[in-house]
Amino acid sequence: MKNYKNLIFEASYVNGEWIKDSDEKVAVKNPADGSTVGYVYNNDATTINKAIDAAYDAFPNWRKKTAKARSGILLNWYQLIMENKDEIAHIMVLESGKPLTECKGEIDYGAAYIQWYAEQGKRNNGTVIPGFTEDRRISVIKQPIGVVGSITPWNFPIAMITRKIAPALAVGCPVVARPSILTPFTALALAHLAHKAGFPEGVVNIVVGKDSSAMGKALCEHPKLAKLSFTGSTRVGKILMKQCSDGLKKLSLELGGNAPFIIFNDANIDDAVKGAIAGKFRFSGQTCVCVNRFLVQDEVYDEFVEKFVAQVKTFKIGNGLETDVNFGPLINKEAITKMEDFVEDAIQQGGTLATGGNKIDDYFFEPTVITQANAKMKFAKEEIFGPIAPIFKFKTEDDAINMANDTEFGLASYFYTNDLNRSIRVSEALEYGMVGLNAGLISSEVAPFGGIKQSGQGREGSVYGLDDFVELKYICTGSVK
Ligand code: SIN
Repeated sequence: MKNYKNLIFEASYVNGEWIKDSDEKVAVKNPADGSTVGYVYNNDATTINKAIDAAYDAFPNWRKKTAKARSGILLNWYQLIMENKDEIAHIMVLESGKPLTECKGEIDYGAAYIQWYAEQGKRNNGTVIPGFTEDRRISVIKQPIGVVGSITPWNFPIAMITRKIAPALAVGCPVVARPSILTPFTALALAHLAHKAGFPEGVVNIVVGKDSSAMGKALCEHPKLAKLSFTGSTRVGKILMKQCSDGLKKLSLELGGNAPFIIFNDANIDDAVKGAIAGKFRFSGQTCVCVNRFLVQDEVYDEFVEKFVAQVKTFKIGNGLETDVNFGPLINKEAITKMEDFVEDAIQQGGTLATGGNKIDDYFFEPTVITQANAKMKFAKEEIFGPIAPIFKFKTEDDAINMANDTEFGLASYFYTNDLNRSIRVSEALEYGMVGLNAGLISSEVAPFGGIKQSGQGREGSVYGLDDFVELKYICTGSVK
């Protein structure tokens, strides 16, 4: 590995330059031990506004380029990220706590959005529609929406950003990204590589700062910003939506989840256990699509619990840079306290601890399984976002569907069955944007990621992911002789 420190930057990247814009610095902490990874300059709405102005000025030339020319720059960026994968992964472990193998996987996954949209941007095709009179011709073209803002959380320091900005850039929109202040270094390394890849000044802007509310408001209210794409909590998504309403800005929202994982009596239990481990404990349970509730049919309940708990006990817990560690720390102390509250509440409501249940220290919480879960427990309704796996029991298919849909959220859901008819019935009945059928990991740049109900709107990834960054224009040509 080259020296990862060569990829550490402390300032925001605006209009092709690193700008400090402040005397104050914010310490970035390592979630595994609380040590300081480094510092970034604390920028705010002023820098966001500068970045939007720069992006707006860059828009006419960026949209004018051919899709092939934009694609070439995106592919350069992809290559540079892959060439620096080890160094970026190291930085990501330090600031997020995610185990090294998962960080490398995330870089492959995050960079794949850039590669995929570099290609798909060239297919931003319109349509020709037969005219409604003999002298009329109708065509529909897709044009870039304008300057795009992105606000992203700490749990996927690269992939969250690339899945938003790669499609935007590919169709001709300049971007202003505000990454989480908990994981700014990965984002700033991306900015450095974007600069080397050849993006013109002002096309890619990444602004770091701790006042997320002020920075979010600045993005929402700036008249030159055309669209905002946000990943985070449902509570904040609603605030942003209100703030965007005056300017009627387009919004994509990827919000909270409460994913059910249903295991029917006819399922292959070994496959289900494998999917359950991946679906629940990826990044210690800190993803929006992580399983929140296991719903297991009565006849296979004990078998599933026994096999699942045996697997959970094999996790190697520790600092993500240590060899073979596959279970890291939680992001901060509040997350640990939240896990303690969930466990205490579940025990009071009649749950049984099958394994785990305690904090290890101020940074780590044991992977935890709670059996005899019931609807009165907090996690029946609230997103856990951590390493607790509650296991509920059900009797019939209808019970399972009703329990699964009994939530305001609708992001990811999973179920395991070997019955063909059931697989169709249940896939159609689940009120979710995404369904994993005999699969516990479903995220990919080629598939549309997103939710319904209070989990948000819009889709990221796949051919559908371009739609959020273009406007349709209908051209009616008349008087054709
Ligand atoms: C998340 O939104 O937290 C999950 C992201 C992913 O699986 O890509």
